[in-house]
Amino acid sequence: MSARPSGIRGATIAGTGMYVPDKILTNADLERMVDTSDEWIRERTGIAERRIAAPDQASSDLAVIAARNALDMAGLRAEDVHQIIVATTTPDRFLPSCACTVQAKLGARNAAAYDMFAACTGFVYGMGIARGLIGTGIADNVLVIGVETLSRIVDYTDRNTCVLFGDGAGAAVMRPCAAGEGILGVSMHSDGVLGDLLEVPAGGAASPASHATVDAREHFIRMRGKELFKVAVRGMEESLRSALDEAGLDPGELDLIIPHQANRRIIDAVCDRLGTPEHKVVINIERYGNTSSASIPISLDEVVRAGRLKFGDRVGFVAFGGGATWGATVARWTMPAMNGKPAQAVVESTVQVVK
Ligand SMILES: CC(C)(COP(=O)(O)OP(=O)(O)OC[C@H]1O[C@@H](n2cnc3c(N)ncnc32)[C@H](O)[C@@H]1OP(=O)(O)O)[C@@H](O)C(=O)NCCC(=O)NCCS
Repeated sequence: MSARPSGIRGATIAGTGMYVPDKILTNADLERMVDTSDEWIRERTGIAERRIAAPDQASSDLAVIAARNALDMAGLRAEDVHQIIVATTTPDRFLPSCACTVQAKLGARNAAAYDMFAACTGFVYGMGIARGLIGTGIADNVLVIGVETLSRIVDYTDRNTCVLFGDGAGAAVMRPCAAGEGILGVSMHSDGVLGDLLEVPAGGAASPASHATVDAREHFIRMRGKELFKVAVRGMEESLRSALDEAGLDPGELDLIIPHQANRRIIDAVCDRLGTPEHKVVINIERYGNTSSASIPISLDEVVRAGRLKFGDRVGFVAFGGGATWGATVARWTMPAMNGKPAQAVVESTVQVVK
């Protein structure tokens, strides 16, 4: 990606939100379903439990709760939103888009709404697109959501995949800010040659749903985990370095890294290569597993509400996913640490909207 054009408005995160379903699926539960063990899952992935959506909850239901929380923090109404980008691999339906369903449920009647299909990298891609929309003046208030109900496409007879994934939603409201603040670097990459490392073989135009595809379990995720692992480590390191270059920063100048939570060992390997100490890395995979596009905004909201980010901090977001896709963004944080204060009061005092 080319460098940020000079003279355009900055774009910053002005509110965050998350939601995870109540139901917890533990490693002990999985031991009763497939040939696995709590010890294997913890050692090889870092996961202890994940959340599972209730039968009457679709992705849009999770997304709407996360989005309302983010809008509340930003002090905006649903009608103020100009664009809704929903990053998901598990839309409620293929038509209409999940984003349009979210728009209707939120009552965000002034927004353009569309889905971002970039697997686990979707939220990072969404931040990059929102940065461009805001920077060029196309939109002021952009709602970027990452949401998944992966439990609907996970094969709970396949131990290679079923131990990894969980459901959840996270959201961020992005708004204009002074140039040189907010998002300072964006890096977005794909390599479609690697598409079959992680796929759902049927249900699209190439192989429409049929009795045969259902019998062959082709509507579930299939993964070549070992190969993905290597591409993930390399792609995440390279893209974070490239976003840092654009921001004019070294890895050591980051105060916090919020990585996609795919596997604890992937995160550790990336941070080793960057020389980043553990206390600067956000890890919650033990509680949620891999929630794909939702993992970064969920982690971000937890960090924001815990007061772990303060004004001026430099934060890196980095992800990898099916496609293959990978990417990163680097931001200078523009909100003060919340430290238990009501979210809206904090935000109202600091976000400068630049026209
Ligand atoms: C999937 C992953 C956890 C597997 O870990 P790994 O260390 O690579 O394990 P391997 O695939 O080499 O398998 C090692 C052994 O454990 C077994 N195994 C696999 N899943 C298992 C499970 N849930 N429980 C117990 N054993 C399991 C394998 O069958 C293999 O047995 P074998 O040696 O007898 O053949 C890891 O490769 C990974 O995380 N890859 C990236 C996946 C990813 O991030 N996907 C989403 C992209 S965003």
